[in-house]
Amino acid sequence: MNKKVTEQQLQEWIEHVKPFTRLGKVPDYIPALAKQDPEHIAVSVFHLDGECVRAGYVDHLFTLQSISKVIALALALMDQGEDYVFSKVGMEPTGDPFHSIAKLETSNPSKPLNPMINAGALAVTNMIEGESPTDKVGKLLSFVHELAGDNTIGIDTEVASSEFETAHLNRALCYYMKQNGIIEGSVEELLDVYTKQCSIAVNIQQLARIGAVFANEGRDLQSGRQIIPKHLARICKTFMVTCGMYDASGSFAIRVGIPAKSGVSGAIMGCVKDVGGIAVVGPSLDEKGNSVVGMQLLEMLSSRLELSIF
Ligand code: DON
Repeated sequence: MNKKVTEQQLQEWIEHVKPFTRLGKVPDYIPALAKQDPEHIAVSVFHLDGECVRAGYVDHLFTLQSISKVIALALALMDQGEDYVFSKVGMEPTGDPFHSIAKLETSNPSKPLNPMINAGALAVTNMIEGESPTDKVGKLLSFVHELAGDNTIGIDTEVASSEFETAHLNRALCYYMKQNGIIEGSVEELLDVYTKQCSIAVNIQQLARIGAVFANEGRDLQSGRQIIPKHLARICKTFMVTCGMYDASGSFAIRVGIPAKSGVSGAIMGCVKDVGGIAVVGPSLDEKGNSVVGMQLLEMLSSRLELSIF
């Protein structure tokens, strides 16, 4: 079957879902994100053959937020190897909200259950090699440039500092893990790297292209160069299926059925083998922190193009 949609179709779907933005709300726990316009909706499919279809606010920049956790995980796995990474972070879904501290105490003391919840992501970012926070952020950014095939991507410094100033819960998670030997070094420096990683700003096409590299088993779309080793890209995609949408991962698997990762900016990145990368953004979030219209758009795409891997 022809797994392609037209930009006109995508635009019609955006018009259809727009009224549903009022079913959610923009997050306010990071003050800079509270300013987002819920109607800044966009969608893009980046095919493995290089064709990109997109619609909506295609030039609008938004931050990666938790989507960056997949990228940092790939980098940490490449830097440190699987054994080390999984000695510090588990592989199991939690069924809890992304910022929950509860399971740090109740299961295998302080070892976060997976790299997609905040605790696990902070532990992963702590593993990225570099002389200084600036070095580590530079490394993450260069990696994003490679994945997106675009070296103009930068950091939204307003979001980064807003997040750094208000990251009390993330600090608590770090101190708890530091006490228990999961992380080491300066918590403030780790928070600096993590909040900047979350504040990397992309447009919808750039995000879809990053998803396409994961769909392409870690290979660059143009040159075919292996940016992420295939088995590590596979680990990242597996986490996207089991934990990518937090405590909505089960219903998402049923409704959409593709590896995907959401962020509190309202963006979701998906990847589909033999098809490509998919990106959606709509800043109004449901109670689990996933984009209301983003979920609907992915559901429409998945059903129309028969994308479910199940
Ligand atoms: O650490 C945080 O809370 C944010 N920078 C990222 C959280 C996030 O995106 C959760 N996703 N839905």
